[in-house]
Amino acid sequence: MIRLSGITKDFPSPSGERLRVLEGVDLELAEGGSLAIQGPSGSGKSTLLGILAGLEQPTSGSVEISGTNLGSLSERALAQFRARNQGFVFQAFHLLQHFSALQNVAIGAEIAGLKEPMLSAREALARVDLADRMHHLPGQLSGGECQRVAIARATVARPSVLLCDEPTGSLDPSNATRVFELLMDLHKDLGTTLVLVTHDPSLSARMDRRMRLERGRVVEG
Ligand SMILES: Nc1ncnc2c1ncn2[C@@H]1O[C@H](COP(=O)(O)OP(=O)(O)O)[C@@H](O)[C@H]1O
Ligand SMILES: [Mg+2]
Repeated sequence: MIRLSGITKDFPSPSGERLRVLEGVDLELAEGGSLAIQGPSGSGKSTLLGILAGLEQPTSGSVEISGTNLGSLSERALAQFRARNQGFVFQAFHLLQHFSALQNVAIGAEIAGLKEPMLSAREALARVDLADRMHHLPGQLSGGECQRVAIARATVARPSVLLCDEPTGSLDPSNATRVFELLMDLHKDLGTTLVLVTHDPSLSARMDRRMRLERGRVVEG
């Protein structure tokens, strides 16, 4: 179970006032379920996903994932929890440019504490159909291939939760479809809970649930 209770988030604005970006968000999502987060640009979707991922602290409220309250963990324990239980896929891939596809995924496997990071990385790349591109650098791969490497990195430790922030947002339609189908396959095959921010109604229609944010509030779902 993923449980968000009363999440608010303030950022300091340049003029010194605080800017409230999330206004008290509650959410419960069953293990193995899927959720689309929709809403206009600036509504707080990425901020909410970052809080769910433990990448950002909420100003108030709690985040519980599989019985663990993220706010109760030390920085080190949180980093460990994230590496083992959560995968994150960004719109802009966020791969290390000077490392091969295999090294990018193996670093994720090492951080997660897997015993055989290289072997696990090879398996994860095979699952995304990139066994023949392992030694390419990100600059030598297409956008769709880069995103598949990023998905391999995010899923190498078979996390219980996969969080994706507009994962198809910078891809052409055919690569977007391929990446989305891959995420759905991994969600089903690995039993991974999937939370996906997307503007594409045809993708959100395939999720179990949809939630819409507007100005930091849940207006639907
Ligand atoms: N680090 C930050 N510092 C200040 N304001 C931020 C920061 N991150 C996001 N914001 C503001 O929070 C609001 C929500 O941003 P975001 O969560 O990225 O929205 P979305 O992903 O829905 O487009 C925006 O108005 C944005 O400018
Ligand atoms: Mg965003």
